[in-house]
Amino acid sequence: MNSKFILLSIALLMPLYLAQDISIEKLLAYNKWSSQNLRNFLNDEEKLFRQLVFFENLQKVKDHNSQDNHTYSLELNQFSDMTEEEFVEKVLMKSDFVDLHISQATSNNSTTSAIEESTSSNSTSDNTAVTVDWRTKGAVTSVKNQGQCGSCWTFSAAGLMESFNFIKNKNLTNFSEQQLVDCVNFANGYSSNGCNGGNPTQCLDYSSKFGITTLQNYPYVGFQKKCNITGTNNGFKPQSWKKILNTSKDLQNALNFSPVSVVVDASTWSHYKSGVYNGCNQTKIRLNHAVLAVGYDSVGNWIVKNSWGTSWGEEGYIRLSPNNTCGILSYNYQITA
Ligand SMILES: *[C@@H]1O[C@H](CO)[C@@H](O)[C@H](O)[C@H]1NC(C)=O
Ligand SMILES: *[C@@H]1O[C@H](CO)[C@@H](O)[C@H](O)[C@H]1NC(C)=O
Ligand SMILES: *[C@@H]1O[C@H](CO)[C@@H](O)[C@H](O)[C@H]1NC(C)=O
Ligand SMILES: *[C@@H]1O[C@H](CO)[C@@H](O)[C@H](O)[C@H]1NC(C)=O
Ligand SMILES: *[C@@H]1O[C@H](CO)[C@@H](O)[C@H](O)[C@H]1NC(C)=O
Ligand SMILES: *[C@@H]1O[C@H](CO)[C@@H](O)[C@H](O)[C@H]1NC(C)=O
Ligand SMILES: *[C@@H]1O[C@H](CO)[C@@H](O)[C@H](O)[C@H]1NC(C)=O
Ligand SMILES: *[C@@H]1O[C@H](CO)[C@@H](O)[C@H](O)[C@H]1NC(C)=O
Ligand SMILES: *[C@@H]1O[C@H](CO)[C@@H](O)[C@H](O)[C@H]1NC(C)=O
Ligand SMILES: *[C@@H]1O[C@H](CO)[C@@H](O)[C@H](O)[C@H]1NC(C)=O
Repeated sequence: MNSKFILLSIALLMPLYLAQDISIEKLLAYNKWSSQNLRNFLNDEEKLFRQLVFFENLQKVKDHNSQDNHTYSLELNQFSDMTEEEFVEKVLMKSDFVDLHISQATSNNSTTSAIEESTSSNSTSDNTAVTVDWRTKGAVTSVKNQGQCGSCWTFSAAGLMESFNFIKNKNLTNFSEQQLVDCVNFANGYSSNGCNGGNPTQCLDYSSKFGITTLQNYPYVGFQKKCNITGTNNGFKPQSWKKILNTSKDLQNALNFSPVSVVVDASTWSHYKSGVYNGCNQTKIRLNHAVLAVGYDSVGNWIVKNSWGTSWGEEGYIRLSPNNTCGILSYNYQITA
């Protein structure tokens, strides 16, 4: 630890922090965090602002973890110098954009032809497994990191196709999210919009026509660039997919066949560390993030693969409490062939 730097920080920041009750302990926490999360600042004002936001998040994490009535814990991570509003703005999709996509897809005027509406499964005999976890079957690729690009929808779709490809063809291969970011766009007749958000089912439609190539062939860079379909025609092509009805039973049934692309409200997820998450405001669900459900446990908690790297959450995963937690039942798709 560079004590000269700490002393300098204290000297510089003391006037500002006197009113804020910033302890040495907090400054040390910030120094540790900032050595692991390198940042460029526009100016000194931004640096101070980030530091204050960090202290606020630090306090939030400490307060939460010191209460023993929670089913999940929090930790500092790559999002700890962002306010909740900024996190929603930069990392997630716009919820009105997502709502528009959902209403378009559920109107019978959808351009995507291969979608079937699932019929209710709740009258048929219950033959779902007590627990499902596709990770244990080797059907899920490693957790990826979308970076500062609202491309979650491509990770949700690629994850779905990767797992289906494994289940059908016994071949676990990383597919290219970047191809989807670059190519599932207005020029190709879609309303998805690169790092500004998009719709996983449009990725399925696109891939059914052009094929999705491997991550190795078309690596992730985290910004939108020119679409390059050289050689993608040999890639994986889903043939049909279906919408899952919005009950727990239907999602469980679907998960018995394969992972499922789901859309959630992740506004409050930024500092999740571990445990069963139930921290969403259920009276105000804003759908703004696409992820991949890979199973459920014996009490009905959903197991969800995220795309914020492995240092976030439970090795990149989150468990959500049963039923419609964070809106997880709202808008779900599965590949059928
Ligand atoms: C946990 O306890 C704190 C006070 O210690 C309270 O403010 C909070 O609402 C409780 N949370 C839950 C989920 O019960
Ligand atoms: C689809 O749209 C047509 C005309 O807009 C309407 O007549 C029909 O009832 C709709 N079908 C469904 C299932 O909503
Ligand atoms: C259905 O699509 C057609 C052609 O894209 C459009 O003109 C019409 O307004 C749409 N109808 C609805 C109900 O969205
Ligand atoms: C599903 O089951 C619930 C509870 O038994 C019932 O109320 C509902 O009507 C069923 N839905 C369908 C489509 O059968
Ligand atoms: C799995 O798929 C990848 C990409 O299509 C291909 O390069 C590889 O040869 C396949 N592996 C096997 C064992 O079929
Ligand atoms: C997928 O890519 C990651 C790197 O992002 C790599 O570590 C992993 O081994 C790859 N998985 C497969 C099945 O190729
Ligand atoms: C397009 O993709 C092909 C095949 O992966 C690659 O050889 C080529 O360099 C790419 N072109 C550009 C402009 O990135
Ligand atoms: C949840 O959202 C409702 C409706 O906007 C709001 O009234 C309530 O205060 C929110 N609850 C929390 C804990 O933020
Ligand atoms: C919520 O989930 C639990 C566990 O799966 C189940 O017992 C309960 O009936 C569900 N509640 C509702 C309202 O669906
Ligand atoms: C499920 O869908 C029905 C019909 O579209 C809707 O009325 C209901 O509010 C939805 N329930 C949930 C939990 O999203």
